[in-house]
Amino acid sequence: MKTHLLGKNGPEVSEVGFGAMGISDIYATSARKDDAGGEATIRAALDAGINLINTGDFYGMGHNEMLVGRAIAGRRDQVVLSVKFGALRDPKGLWLGHDCRPAAVKNFCAYSLQRLGVDHIDLYQPARLDHDVPIEETVGSIAQLIREGKVKYLGLSEVTPDILRRAHAVHPVTALEIEYSLSTRFIEGEILSVARELGVGIVAYGALSRGLLSGKLDGKFERGDFRSITPRYMAANLQANLQLVETLADIAESKGCTPAQLAIAWVLAQGDDIVPLIGTSNSTRLKENLGALNVRLSPADIALLDTAFPEGTFHGDRYPTAAMKFVAG
Ligand SMILES: NC(=O)c1ccc[n+]([C@@H]2O[C@H](COP(=O)([O-])OP(=O)(O)OC[C@H]3O[C@@H](n4cnc5c(N)ncnc54)[C@H](OP(=O)(O)O)[C@@H]3O)[C@@H](O)[C@H]2O)c1
Repeated sequence: MKTHLLGKNGPEVSEVGFGAMGISDIYATSARKDDAGGEATIRAALDAGINLINTGDFYGMGHNEMLVGRAIAGRRDQVVLSVKFGALRDPKGLWLGHDCRPAAVKNFCAYSLQRLGVDHIDLYQPARLDHDVPIEETVGSIAQLIREGKVKYLGLSEVTPDILRRAHAVHPVTALEIEYSLSTRFIEGEILSVARELGVGIVAYGALSRGLLSGKLDGKFERGDFRSITPRYMAANLQANLQLVETLADIAESKGCTPAQLAIAWVLAQGDDIVPLIGTSNSTRLKENLGALNVRLSPADIALLDTAFPEGTFHGDRYPTAAMKFVAG
């Protein structure tokens, strides 16, 4: 697998990363019962040459970090570990807001190190902006953790260009984790150009728009699945979006690949400074999605996809209405 520097001064990372969230949380709740399968999927990702592993302390309220910790045990040197913090949840998993005060940052970090069983985190970022705390204070506390050797690099997640600039002025930002796919292209406005100007790498999540671009969603979500309450995956929006995915499937067929592979290959083709995350709880799908690395897209292929799926083509917000104020676009 090819590797690139993440951001101007960051670590060397594989051209795709692995997103562990869905093993514990957010999507099919039954996936949560298969810890052994999830750990095996992470180990298979490492075996395939992926070194960037992405988690968050709130994915399954610590469950995901403990699982990642077990999966990478004995292989820590092979891994660039990326952790998000700041989202608050109750014992039922309900979302309670964000806490990015400096004391909270240090507390979250201490607990993450324990759950992951590591002595440092490579890339550490607030999951969202805490609107009650200036970004300079949150970033200042991560900079202190970097000086103490508990964290190696600063990241951000789903922030606006203005917040990215303010954070970078306090401490160099290595990477911005943000949604980017054929169905979610808002970063191509100002965010991507500011990131490039500052030398900040992009960690692209949702390359499959949470499964939509695989062409395999049928709208029957388990209770508690994020997509069951998110406009993009509901009712008429979902039906219209699935029709759009049929066009993607036709193009994929002509390229001899699956829609999921084509969608990931398109993100990969947007630049070496963009690292898509492969998000799956399942080794078979991991293998399928890694096939994206063998899909060669010509300028004509890219033009065809860009014409078929300009920003704004897909229907419905990408987050539930109440959460939209916390995301970048
Ligand atoms: N910073 C943020 O705000 C943020 C937000 C969301 C996610 N993330 C991170 O980004 C990572 C990736 O995001 P994501 O999980 O939403 O990625 P995604 O790839 O867009 O979607 C993952 C979903 O698609 C399904 N899937 C994957 N490959 C498939 C295939 N070949 N065919 C059919 N279905 C397929 C997965 O189900 P199976 O598990 O059943 O394969 C899962 O339900 C997450 O794991 C998390 O670490 C960050």
